[in-house]
Amino acid sequence: MGKIVATQYLVVNPVEPEPDKIEWAARVLREGGLVAFPTETVYGLGANALNREAVRKIFQAKGRPADNPLIVHVGSLVEVDNLVTYVPEKARRLMQLFWPGPLTLVLPRRDQVPLEVTAGLETVAIRMPDHPVALALLRTARVPVAAPSANRSGRPSPTTGQHVLADLQGKVDVVLDGGAARVGVESTVLDLTTEVPVILRPGGATVEQLREVLGEVALDPALEKSDPEWKPRSPGMKYTHYSPEAEVFLVAGSPRLAVQKILELCKKWQERGERVAILATEETADYYRRGPVVPDHIEILGSRRNLEEIARRLFNALRNCDLNQATVVLAETFPDEGIGLAIMNRLRKAAGGRVISS
Ligand code: TXA
Ligand code: MG
Repeated sequence: MGKIVATQYLVVNPVEPEPDKIEWAARVLREGGLVAFPTETVYGLGANALNREAVRKIFQAKGRPADNPLIVHVGSLVEVDNLVTYVPEKARRLMQLFWPGPLTLVLPRRDQVPLEVTAGLETVAIRMPDHPVALALLRTARVPVAAPSANRSGRPSPTTGQHVLADLQGKVDVVLDGGAARVGVESTVLDLTTEVPVILRPGGATVEQLREVLGEVALDPALEKSDPEWKPRSPGMKYTHYSPEAEVFLVAGSPRLAVQKILELCKKWQERGERVAILATEETADYYRRGPVVPDHIEILGSRRNLEEIARRLFNALRNCDLNQATVVLAETFPDEGIGLAIMNRLRKAAGGRVISS
């Protein structure tokens, strides 16, 4: 559904974006088209947030349920006042300290923000992305830009222009390719409409950083862990979460124990005819390479001592598992600290709650 458009793919300089390319994309936005653009977190699929028709196209292109609200991106602080009825002191402070950057603030919506953007909510989520291409686009278009991650709904978020093309070719007017995203997981979504601010989605700005500024910060109860009732079943039972085609399983426990368990599970599933990929780390990769069990594919996310690197590579690794025709992905787990909380949140979702202890 939705009409097919000719997608224009423009490679832009990520440090000093070429003005003619930015002008072109900005005009497409102003005229109601869709432009995918890089941010520091993941690529966004943008439309003029004040144009209902344009915003509806986002939902069509992604196949996104209409009840999932969009984040509005701004290129300057003054724009915020046109979008919200009230900016609490806490919000001002966070904008000063974190913007541009991977922090989205949920604030009370002004009437002029279409309900299509907020999915009927009386609040609106806003952020200023920290990427020269995104900022140039926003400041040239001079309209607030609603932009979810530029993936087909249900797929891992895109961290490169090629990921966007793989998912949305023929559905987006322009893709600006500004290289690989630096953070690699989406922004932290913080609700500031309650007495105690609540993190609705962990992301690039960490809980620890936010607590340093705000004192008390709560985590949305919906984020709590995975389904304790879940028991391993045979692969093939599909969950529709944002994840690769393959069925993802998290294997909890210390790296040493997790490696043992993963090798055991790998053998078992290969014997049942599954193609098994492993999400490993530099510290553990050799154990999977040495045999006697040989996985069909190994993705090395990075070093356990550098969770930022693991965040940066996570979505690309999940997509690579699909490209290698894996039917099962076995993933190690990470500490719920710093950016680790966002990593584990995405892994738990990709796994649809399937966590196996080692
Ligand atoms: O890093 C990011 O945030 C990326 C880049 C492109 O900026 N965008 C992104 O958008 O991740 P999306 O649509 O994939 O995720 C937006 C999240 C969803 O979980 C949505 O439910 C939540 O923000 N959200 C948006 N508006 C909200 C609101 N008014 N109240 C509560 N949650 C909201
Ligand atoms: Mg998304």
